[in-house]
Amino acid sequence: MCGIIGYTGTEQAAPILLDGLRKLEYRGYDSAGIAVLYDNALTVCKITGRIANLSEKTEDGKATPGQVGIGHTRWATHGAPTDENAHPHKSNDGRFAVVHNGIIENYQALRAELVEKGYTFESETDTEVVVHLIEMYYEGDVKNAVIRASARLRGSWALGVLCTDCPDTVYVAREASPLILGAGVGENYFASDITALVSYTRNVMYLDDGEFAAVSPAGITIFDGTGRPVEKKLHRITWDVAAAEKGGYEHFMLKEMMEQPRATEATISPRIRDGEVFFEGFALGEEELRSIDKIVITACGSAYYAGCAGKIAIERLCRIPVSVELASELRYADPLIDEHTLLVVLSQSGETADTIAAMKECKARGARTVAVVNVVGSTVAALADHVIYTWAGPEIAVATTKGYTTQLSVLYLLATYLAGKKGSVPRERYDACVAAIRSIPKLIQEAIDLNAAALPRLARKYCDHASMFYIGRNTDYAVSLEGALKMKEISYIHAESYAAGELKHGTIALIEEGQPVVALCCNEDVTEKTVSNIVECKARGAEVLAVTFRDNGRVISQADDVIALPRMETVFSPAVEIVPLQMLAYYVARERGCDIDKPKNLAKSVTVE
Ligand code: F6R
Repeated sequence: MCGIIGYTGTEQAAPILLDGLRKLEYRGYDSAGIAVLYDNALTVCKITGRIANLSEKTEDGKATPGQVGIGHTRWATHGAPTDENAHPHKSNDGRFAVVHNGIIENYQALRAELVEKGYTFESETDTEVVVHLIEMYYEGDVKNAVIRASARLRGSWALGVLCTDCPDTVYVAREASPLILGAGVGENYFASDITALVSYTRNVMYLDDGEFAAVSPAGITIFDGTGRPVEKKLHRITWDVAAAEKGGYEHFMLKEMMEQPRATEATISPRIRDGEVFFEGFALGEEELRSIDKIVITACGSAYYAGCAGKIAIERLCRIPVSVELASELRYADPLIDEHTLLVVLSQSGETADTIAAMKECKARGARTVAVVNVVGSTVAALADHVIYTWAGPEIAVATTKGYTTQLSVLYLLATYLAGKKGSVPRERYDACVAAIRSIPKLIQEAIDLNAAALPRLARKYCDHASMFYIGRNTDYAVSLEGALKMKEISYIHAESYAAGELKHGTIALIEEGQPVVALCCNEDVTEKTVSNIVECKARGAEVLAVTFRDNGRVISQADDVIALPRMETVFSPAVEIVPLQMLAYYVARERGCDIDKPKNLAKSVTVE
C-alpha cells in the first residue's frame, strides 16, 4: 500500500521526508519520491526501488534545499513500478505537485476529459488526473482548487498538494484513505500512517472522510467540502514506534485480518458500476465466451483453496465445468488443456514458482489466461493475457488472510460477470449476486465484531490439543480446507479438513473423547446432513465447535461452542466464514507462544519449486 508524508517548518524538509518514508517501508513499496518547494520552484526526485536509492540520489536529502515538502512510497496499482509512475506527479504548468494514497476509480473518464482539454500525461497512474484537475480549477486559490478537484473524484484518496504560489503551506484531502496530521511547534506534518510521525510529534489529529486541511508552520486549519472550518481534537500517541508499524496491532497477521473489510471493499467496489460487474482491461466477447468449454483454476496453498470455493460459485452461476488444480501437480500432469480452456491463475505474490510453471505449461497448450494477482508487475501478471488485481495492499504476515478473501472477492465477481455474459441466471438473480458481493466487506466486519470477544476464550480452551478436525460440506468444506491450513501453519497443531460425508468412510475411526471438531454449517442446503455428522462425532466424545449463523438454533443446540455469523448468500459465504477461523488460528497460535508472522519453515513467497 502506498504511504505519504509531508512536512512544513524551519528544518530542511528532504531529510525529514526520507526518514518518514523509511518508517513506511514495512508496508511494502516498489518506488518512492519526494517534492520540495524552494525559492518558488518545485524539485521532484523519484526513483524505482529502495528508499536507499532515493537517499543516495539526494545525498540523504541534503542536496535538496527547502523547508516544505511531500513524499511518497508507491505500491503499484495502475501502471508498472517505474520512475515515471512514481509520485509526486507535477502539473503541466509546474505549479503543483501531488502525492496520493488510494485509488481514483473514475480516472479513465477524467483522463480522457483532461487530454481533450490539452493536458499531457507523463505516467500511467490514476493519480496524475488529480494534479491536472487542480491545475484546471486553480484561479489563485489553492484551497478552492483542491476542493473542486476532489469533488470530481470517485474512489479513495489521501492527497498532499504543494503549490509554488504558497511557499510554506501543504494542502491535504482525505476520502476513504487514512490521513493523520501531526502538530509540532513552528512545524507541522501529515502522513498516511502514524509510524512516519511518532519520532517527530506525538500530538496528532485524524482527518475524516470529505475533510481537507491547510498545513503551515503556523498551524493546521481543517475545513470541509464547502470550505467551512472544522474543529478537531488533538490526540496524544502513547505507542512505541514498533507497535505503530503494525498500526497498534500485536502482529501483522492481526492487522491484516482486521484490514479485510477495507481490502475487500477496495477490490469489489471499483468493479461494480450501475449494478453491473465489469473489469478494467478484461472483457470477454460473446464469440470468445462461446468458444470456452471449461475453466481451469490453478494455484498453490491458500490460493488453491480460494479456487476450491470459487469453483462452486462459478459452476453454480455459470454452468461451465470448472476444475481446480494444484499448480505443482498440473505442471507435470500432461493436462487436457487447449484453446477452449480459460485458465484462471490465482496468486497473491505473483511469484510462486509452481504457479508460474503451470501457467506456462497451459499457455503453451493454447489456454487463455486470466491472472488474479495482488502484486502489480509480478511474473504471473506479466505472463497473463488478462490481469484482475486484488487490491489488498501488501501482505506482510507469511500466513495469507486478506490475500485469500480478496481472491475470493474477485472470483465471485468473475462468476457473476460470466453469468451475466452467458445469460445463465435471470436478471433478478444477477442483481441479488451483485448486492450480495457488495455486502461482503460489511459482513466481514460483522463477523469480526461478533466473535472478537469470544475467540481468545475459545483459543484458550482448544490450544492444548494435538490435533483438530475441520468438517463441512460443499462451500463449508471449501472453507474448512483453508481454516485447517491456517491452524496448522501458524499454531503447529495438526489440523485436517474432511468433507463431512467422508467421515464414515474411515476418518471417524479417529474420533475419540475430547477430540476437537470444528463443524462448518453455513450452507443451508446441507445443514441437516452436517448436523447428523456433528451428532455422530459427539456420540464418540468429540468437542464440537460449530461455525454457523447466529440464529441457527438447530446447529447451536448440538454444539459445545459456537462461532456465530451473520446470515449471507450461501454461494459467497466462504469470504465471510473464513475470517473467524483465521482469528481462531491466530489466537490459538498466540496462546502457544508461536512466532505468528513468521511461522517456522515457511516463506512468504515460494519462488522455488
Ligand atoms: C498460506 C499461504 C500460502 C500461499 C501459497 C501461494 O497462508 O500464504 O499457502 O497461499 O504459497 O502463494 P501465492 O498466492 O503468493 O501464489
